[in-house]
Amino acid sequence: MTAISMSAEEMVALCKQYTFWSWSAQDNVNPIPMERAEGIYFWTPDGKRYIDMNSQLMCVNIGHGNRRVIRAIQEQAAQLAYAGPSMASEARARIGPLLAKHTPGDLNKFFFTLGGAEANENAIKLARQFTGKQKIIARYRSYHGATAGAISLTGDYRRWANEPGLPGVVRVFDPYRYRCAFCKNNPGGCTMDCLNHIEEVIQYEGPQTIAAVFIETVTGTNGVIVPPDGYLPGLRQLCDKYGILLVCDEVMAGFGRTGEWFAVDHWNIVPDIMTMAKGLTSSYLPLGGVAMSGKIANYFAKNVYYGGLTYNAHPMSLAAAIATIEVMEEEDIVGNAKRMGKVMAALHDDLEAEHASVGEARSIGLFGVLELVKSRQTREPLPAAEMSKVSAYLKEHGLYHFASGHLLFTNPPLIITEPELKDAFEIINQALAIADQAVQ
Ligand SMILES: Cc1ncc(COP(=O)(O)O)c(C=O)c1O
Repeated sequence: MTAISMSAEEMVALCKQYTFWSWSAQDNVNPIPMERAEGIYFWTPDGKRYIDMNSQLMCVNIGHGNRRVIRAIQEQAAQLAYAGPSMASEARARIGPLLAKHTPGDLNKFFFTLGGAEANENAIKLARQFTGKQKIIARYRSYHGATAGAISLTGDYRRWANEPGLPGVVRVFDPYRYRCAFCKNNPGGCTMDCLNHIEEVIQYEGPQTIAAVFIETVTGTNGVIVPPDGYLPGLRQLCDKYGILLVCDEVMAGFGRTGEWFAVDHWNIVPDIMTMAKGLTSSYLPLGGVAMSGKIANYFAKNVYYGGLTYNAHPMSLAAAIATIEVMEEEDIVGNAKRMGKVMAALHDDLEAEHASVGEARSIGLFGVLELVKSRQTREPLPAAEMSKVSAYLKEHGLYHFASGHLLFTNPPLIITEPELKDAFEIINQALAIADQAVQ
């Protein structure tokens, strides 16, 4: 491998001059130059070290620089770098049974794509072709990817510039307890009225027109929204009652992030279709997947599936996935996420106790968020100017993180240790003193 010889300034300048950045006005981007990465850390060409408190994009679950995955990619490249989508290969033969050990219920048949959005595109097609119905119910606080269909399912503001999108998408509200419109006036807490709301929407849209309900099992970038117990089993029952497929998007929540292999495992439900990406290869190479139930797989045994990709089941990506899953099994990465998830929840509690700006701290496993507010009473979000100061402090002190609006996310690689978590949270603790100054 050629050693990197560029200065940080040169790297940033050339990247900015010639390449186009996502979700940004191009003049506003301010990338951190990344030279190398190991474990939970990465370094700039100047030698500045960052704790990767977002696993890049909630995706490098096993941490950076894992030798076994790197070796598997190198060996696959030397053996067979590419095979067309109609070919069989050893990587394709090995990934299925390995993945099926961990996917829930009878989700034992997989269609491979190159990322999460493509996985959701194909889940839409599978659901429509299998049911012969067109409409899809999706939720407002959601992100499902940036391609045409996936961005149409997306409920948040990222959809607006792409509208009008796919016809037939109907949106419903979320089980968002901190700001729940259904339960806010109920002193007894959660009424699960959000499920009654979905049932009413199903009835008015006509169950005979609805192919699927699409959800992020635990909502990601819209705020680590963990459904109340009973929500997922209730939604599963609703879908069964009306003959509608349940599709769970586990692109972000899957592969150990929540302390289980898949988030659905917390509530023991089996969706009809589950989509995945990110942690599937820990993002060492691009790969997404759609897992489907036996009844859907059987339907397509005799019926042609109208969908395809040049890079379907790419051997190099599959080799990375096989090695990633083996690392996860042998190093008990999911168990570590569960154990460190408890440590992180306690650290969240400490921040909530100490800082008036923390309206609510939520987490499940190592999937966490601090919801920062100007007032705990009104729950008014912390203003953007204050959030920028918090982010600037974290960056300056070597903590790479993801923030969206007033949400500060805590999503470290799943290999993180207790001392490393405590180091990271000490930096966050200091930064929140800035946010506290804006609290009224
Ligand atoms: C829940 C969810 N679904 C889908 C996607 C899209 O995945 P990709 O960016 O690989 O297309 C993302 C990406 O962040 C996601 O978080």
